[in-house]
Amino acid sequence: MRRVNAARTQVAIVGAGPAGLVLSHLLAAAGIDSIVVDRRSREAIETTVRAGILEADTVRLLSESGASTRVLSDGMRHDGIELRFAGEGHRIDFMALTGRGVWLYPQHEVLRDLIAARLADGQDLRFETEAARVEDDAQTARVHATDANGEPLTIAADFVVGADGSRSVARLAVTGADGGGYFREYPFAWFGILCEAPPSAPELIYSNSSQGFALISQRSATVQRMYLQCDPDLDPEAWSDERIWEELAARVAPHPLIRGPIFQRDVLRFRSYVASSLRRGRIALVGDCAHTVPPTGAKGMNLAIADVVVLARALRALIGDRDWSLIESYEDDVLARVWKAQHFSWWMTQMLHLTAEASDFDRRRQLGELSSVVASEAGRRYLAEAYTGWPLQLEELL
Ligand code: PHB
Repeated sequence: MRRVNAARTQVAIVGAGPAGLVLSHLLAAAGIDSIVVDRRSREAIETTVRAGILEADTVRLLSESGASTRVLSDGMRHDGIELRFAGEGHRIDFMALTGRGVWLYPQHEVLRDLIAARLADGQDLRFETEAARVEDDAQTARVHATDANGEPLTIAADFVVGADGSRSVARLAVTGADGGGYFREYPFAWFGILCEAPPSAPELIYSNSSQGFALISQRSATVQRMYLQCDPDLDPEAWSDERIWEELAARVAPHPLIRGPIFQRDVLRFRSYVASSLRRGRIALVGDCAHTVPPTGAKGMNLAIADVVVLARALRALIGDRDWSLIESYEDDVLARVWKAQHFSWWMTQMLHLTAEASDFDRRRQLGELSSVVASEAGRRYLAEAYTGWPLQLEELL
C-alpha cells in the first residue's frame, strides 16, 4: 500500500539553516509544534563552511535558550577588529566603545548544535526533503515537497515560514511572480580560503590596500579563514598557493601572516537585496530569502536570527491567542533593522574595496573616509555599535 505522505503541524518551516532551526527551537519552548524541511542532507548542512561572527545578542539567545552551549565554551570572544589602510592598523575597541564584543564561532558549528538540540527534543526535522511550492488558502498554508524517498509530501499548517536562503522557493508565494524587491550588485567578489595555521593576529583584520581588500579571519586555534577581493568570475583553482599568499601578504603588509596548507577555496559573490514583501497571509520570509547583505559587515546570520526573534513572538501571539497584530506588523518591524544592516554592510564594503573604475580622486576620498572614522570617537562608535549589533528584544523569549 502506498504511504499517504501528508502531515499537519502548527508551523511548517522551509529551510534548516540558522533561521529555520532557531525558529523551531523558540516555538517549541512555547509549546508550538513545527516541521522543518530542507533539501540538503544533514551532513551537507553540518559541514558547509559559511560565516563566522556572532553578535553579542545572537550569542545570548543561542546560549540562554539552550540552543547551543558550545558557543560559549568553544567560541572565541573578540573585543575589537583592526581596520588597516595606507600600511597602518587601527584598532576599533568594541568593548570600550559599546560594552559588547562579538563571538567567532563558525555557522556550521551553530548548525550542528541546533540540529542536535532539536533532535534531542523530538523535533520533526526532515532532511533531503525538497519543497517545490508554498501556498495559502486563507484557512491553511501548505508546503508541497518531495521527501527523501522521492515521494510527494504535503504539509498543512497554520503558518508557513520561508527560511530557505537566497534561492528560495517559498519567496514566490509572498512576493508574487514579478518578484521585484531592491537589489544592488557589486563588481567584485571574495576569494576565500581555509588553511591549516594558527591565527596571524588576535583579532580580525579588515584591510583596504591599493591592491584591493583583504580580510584575515580565523576558525580555530589551528585553522585560519582569509579572503581576498577578486573578480566575480575568478576560477578559485586558477591561482597557485604561492600566488594567494603573495597577494594576501601584499594587501596587509607589513603585518606578517602565518602560512599553512590551503585546504579549501571558494568564491563568494556580493549582492545586496531586500524582497518587495516579507509576509502575505499565513506565509512569512526570514533570513537570506528575505534579504541578502555582502559579507563585509558580518551581518548575514545575525540578521536572520533577528528576524526570527520578531517572528517567534508574532507566531506565539497568533497561535496561542489568535492575535494577528504582530504578524501584521512583522514586515515593518524587521525592515527597520534590515535597512540599517543594509546600509552598514554597503558602507563597510564601499569603504574597504577598490573598484576598477576608481579614479585617483575616489581612492584619496576613500582614505579620507577611513581616516575620519578611525580618528573620530563618533565614527569608531558607529562602526562598533553596528558590528556588535543593535540589541534584540529577547524579553519573554528566554
Ligand atoms: C569569516 O570569518 O568568515 C568572516 C568574518 C568576518 C566577516 C565575514 C566573514 O565580515
